[in-house]
Amino acid sequence: MRTPDELRALVEAYLGELALTPELHGQAESVRYAIESPGKRVRPVICLATAEAAGLEPEAALPAGAALELVHCFSLVHDDLPPLDNDAERRGQPSTWARFGEGIAVLAGDALLAEAFRLALSYPTPHVGRELAQATLGMIGGQYLDITGSAPDEATLHRLKTGALFAASVGLALWVAEIPEPQQRAWREFGGELGLLFQIVDDILDGDGYVVSHGADGARRLADEAAERTRARLDGIDADISVLREIVDGLAVRTA
Ligand code: IPE
Ligand code: IPE
Ligand code: MG
Ligand code: MG
Ligand code: MG
Repeated sequence: MRTPDELRALVEAYLGELALTPELHGQAESVRYAIESPGKRVRPVICLATAEAAGLEPEAALPAGAALELVHCFSLVHDDLPPLDNDAERRGQPSTWARFGEGIAVLAGDALLAEAFRLALSYPTPHVGRELAQATLGMIGGQYLDITGSAPDEATLHRLKTGALFAASVGLALWVAEIPEPQQRAWREFGGELGLLFQIVDDILDGDGYVVSHGADGARRLADEAAERTRARLDGIDADISVLREIVDGLAVRTA
């Protein structure tokens, strides 16, 4: 089994060599900028680790993992735009709009989304692209609930805005590994827990969200409970989940 760091290196190399559509012309520069900015690559790493736990060589899941990362990058590029969060910085450097202008950043997001589906459609099964589409729409719905302040509750917001792509990180790997649907349940229950764990820890690191609503100690307690639930779900999977367990343990205590 590959370690999480080895999986991350595979993802990084694949993203670095990704051939973008030539028709993008000069637009490719901003797309590349958004992809190659230093992200943690959590979603593709989970996708590759799931694929390996399900019996594949992790390389087989690289197009799916990269597709997830491209949708994630698309969400970040648009999230930072002035009409949304108006953030001039992302991943420690100027956000795409701050570097290239708003119009080019809108187009960079558009291109990232289309490139993501080009990758997802490289598999013979339509399920990879179909699940990625559903997850992308869930993320967009979550963004809508966020910017309009219309979420019925915190859990619904995060299950969509953050959770949809995390759940798909597991789900896409299951389709790539050709795990029949009836045998996907335990894996999917695990994937369904990941987003909330990630988000609560993210809020603890940023001092917002769950820290504001539950206090620092309350948020830490919720994060620990989410980590316990996620580990319990992992234990329900009939496979070698040791690397996924290491990833979950890392997510629970990460400091960056
Ligand atoms: C940021 O996601 C947005 C959230 C869902 C909190 P990440 O923390 O995974 O961002 P990068 O990819 O490492 O920049
Ligand atoms: C980022 O959301 C985009 C998505 C999760 C879709 P946020 O606005 O909550 O996160 P940051 O703080 O900009 O990374
Ligand atoms: Mg936002
Ligand atoms: Mg934001
Ligand atoms: Mg945050």
